[in-house]
Amino acid sequence: MPRPTPQSDALFERALAVTPGGVNSPVRAFNAVGGTPRFIESAQGAWLTDADGNEYVDLICSWGPMLLGHAHPEVEAAVREAVARGTSYGTPTRPEVELAEEIVARAPVERVRFVSSGTEATMSAIRLARGFTGRDVVVKFAGCYHGHVDSLLASAGSGVATFALPGTPGVPASSTELTLVLPYNDRAAVEAAFAEYGDRIACLITEAAPGNMGVVPPEEGFNRFLAETCRTHGALFVSDEVMTGFRASKLGQWGLDGAHEGWRPDLMTFGKVMGGGFPAAAFGGRAEVMHHLAPEGPVYQAGTLSGNPIATTAGLTTLGLATDEVYDHLTKTGDVIKTAVSDALSDAGVAHCVQATGTMFSVFLTEGPVRDFDDAQRTDVAAYAAFFHAMLDHGVHLPPSAYEAWFLSAAHDDRAVQTVLDALPAAARAAAAAQETHA
Ligand SMILES: Cc1ncc(COP(=O)(O)O)c(C=O)c1O
Repeated sequence: MPRPTPQSDALFERALAVTPGGVNSPVRAFNAVGGTPRFIESAQGAWLTDADGNEYVDLICSWGPMLLGHAHPEVEAAVREAVARGTSYGTPTRPEVELAEEIVARAPVERVRFVSSGTEATMSAIRLARGFTGRDVVVKFAGCYHGHVDSLLASAGSGVATFALPGTPGVPASSTELTLVLPYNDRAAVEAAFAEYGDRIACLITEAAPGNMGVVPPEEGFNRFLAETCRTHGALFVSDEVMTGFRASKLGQWGLDGAHEGWRPDLMTFGKVMGGGFPAAAFGGRAEVMHHLAPEGPVYQAGTLSGNPIATTAGLTTLGLATDEVYDHLTKTGDVIKTAVSDALSDAGVAHCVQATGTMFSVFLTEGPVRDFDDAQRTDVAAYAAFFHAMLDHGVHLPPSAYEAWFLSAAHDDRAVQTVLDALPAAARAAAAAQETHA
């Protein structure tokens, strides 16, 4: 049964009167699934409580950051102490040094620079790659999202090696005319692009494992192939770990497919988990490249709140608590949920595939495997909307879009998991019914 949501409905009305679409980031608006977004009043552990007092198991986890669950007592205590010391000074501070040391210890980067969002991280990494190489062209993959950087909001041109078109009104053609958009997991397309433009390519940027078209793991050796192709042509390999970093595994995606293979990215971007639920992100890489950043080098980059002491304290505390046990828990819990989703959808006769990289996974309502954005777009969005609303009615808040990863936390305990398992059969039947209606 749908839960009454008069307070959320009223807040949404007010929000619509003052904010475009009533939200501060588009996917929150439920446009992809219909209905009114829930306005969340508080969150604890694995649970969200909305303005009407309804409780939901949270499978969004703020789109990744809440690795430890909401309001973790140690993160909360560290943040409270930090706030009492003042919230921003515009001078260097201890926590930013300590968080940088922690990231350098875990990830294959020698220097990091903090920023406030993943968008800033990828934008800055690209500027640095262009400044370092003295080249202009950027290669990305269709379906990979790197934030709302103008040059990366691009749609593929008409052929594999033709320059991109603006992906949204407001981005001038001049911002995307140096971007090449290729199909993911497609080595031949990468080879063709580098064969034609190799000496003009500043960098190739890729999600370390795409999570923004649903989870599409890189095929065996794909990241290594990208790193080597970049090296051959004097371009930089930028691995965007904003979503996967400290999430897919303790060492991010690089820990899953790079750490053992002997390659490393030239530049990496981070966000989400490393900010512990606060606005913090970073880009980092080889010292030789990072030396080109101001004030050491000529490439300008800056930020009033960059390395903010509250955000870096939250991130540092979170990473300190992100132990092997946390990732083991996410793996085990994820396995239980993935199996149950798949069983429920099979029982209801709904074609699907569940894809994962490390502890990150997503559910496509289409036959698999999903290798790239074209495959992902076969997912049945109407069936997902029905599935989503049935889960919501049973107290489980999934991402309100068929193309997103489902996120768990260390706080997803037996009660939370059981709530998800109990909700699945009816949701799978709702998806099947939606498919019958539009068949
Ligand atoms: C892989 C990736 N890169 C960059 C970004 C942009 O980060 P932000 O939303 O903090 O600007 C995101 C956001 O979801 C992301 O998933």
